[in-house]
Amino acid sequence: MITEKDKALKKLKPIAKESESSPMREMMKMMEDRKGLLSLSAGEANFDPPEELIELASEAMRKDRNRYTSTNGIPQVREAVAEFVNDQWGAKVDPAANILMTVGGMEAIFLATRVLVQKGDRVLLPDPGWGVMRTVLERLGALLAYYPLEEKESWFIDHEAILSRIDGQTKLVVINSPSNPTGATLSKEGFKALIERAREKGFFILSDEVYHNYVYGGEHASALHFDSLDNVVFINSFSKTFAVTGWRLGYAIAHPWIIRQMGIFKESISLCSFSIGQWAMAQFLPHCGRYLRKNREFCQANMQRLVTRLNAIPGVRCPSPKGGIYVFPDFSRIEPSSQELFRRLLDGGVAVVPGVFFGQKGEGRARLMFACPTDYIDRCMERIEATLRGKPSTVVTKLPGNLS
Ligand SMILES: Cc1ncc(COP(=O)(O)O)c(C=O)c1O
Repeated sequence: MITEKDKALKKLKPIAKESESSPMREMMKMMEDRKGLLSLSAGEANFDPPEELIELASEAMRKDRNRYTSTNGIPQVREAVAEFVNDQWGAKVDPAANILMTVGGMEAIFLATRVLVQKGDRVLLPDPGWGVMRTVLERLGALLAYYPLEEKESWFIDHEAILSRIDGQTKLVVINSPSNPTGATLSKEGFKALIERAREKGFFILSDEVYHNYVYGGEHASALHFDSLDNVVFINSFSKTFAVTGWRLGYAIAHPWIIRQMGIFKESISLCSFSIGQWAMAQFLPHCGRYLRKNREFCQANMQRLVTRLNAIPGVRCPSPKGGIYVFPDFSRIEPSSQELFRRLLDGGVAVVPGVFFGQKGEGRARLMFACPTDYIDRCMERIEATLRGKPSTVVTKLPGNLS
């Protein structure tokens, strides 16, 4: 509340709508007050980062790599990233011209959209989809339009649904594959068709692939497969891949002009990205394969376990995600309001994220994260089953480490 005596404050205009973060804050507040709560609501994996990466980071700190780096990132990490994307998706990118290291995937998204989108531009986004992308674009004054993600036995991104919504005003199409919250993926053919149309009609594709390591039963299809960056801005991050969300380190790959523009803008925001992380990742990336495989397999087994248990509850329908670290089950036959479902499950001792936070198509659903210890998932499921089947749940009083 700003009062009469707050003379200086009264001259300010809000730069962010209070309503943007209030549902999330309200949810966090409700969670804080619960003793012994278990939580599948986190937006990050709950396993350890690679031991070697931690060692490399400690060494970098001791070797006084604690200073500013160049804005675009140290050459060594950009070279390692270029090799990584070549190895993973056959992409040929120039480390000096096509890569910008950023403060997490989020800064890459912020800078890319700032360069690509002007007020009044039409942008196509997925529904359900990650709310932060929506907020960033709304703040730029973009006209938001949505394409639906489709659900059969798994969620998927239907490129035809996107193509049919592209008109002369469309400036940008946002792809998030694998998706938060559904795990939907876009096929290689889908990417190809979209990139061809983008070239022909003159729009951009922002391809957010931060969950690329978590693809189950197939290869990850990337926007980088096609050896052309003219219409693509690729967003990636080490956050989810290496369980280092707090490092705030990610990167964008795009046309040199776009990277230059993003870099110039970044100079006056963050100047550079986390130096220690850059030095450590430069050395770790070339041999990260075993860690990636191990966690992918671990997540896949957890996902299958969670899907089976959820589907065994009468009235719950849970498609197996093709990727990502979340399931997005349909609870609407038990509880059509996802916020009410959130409250019921919270009363039963488990926190989830209400589906409606991800868009209208999320109503009646919830997001549950499965990149955590298997016995933790089991304990959460016991409580969820008891709550939804109407039996009292067992109360656990101790909060398990950093899982809350
Ligand atoms: C779809 C998606 N993209 C990007 C990000 C940004 O991650 P970070 O900034 O930690 O790299 C997130 C984080 O939750 C996400 O879910």
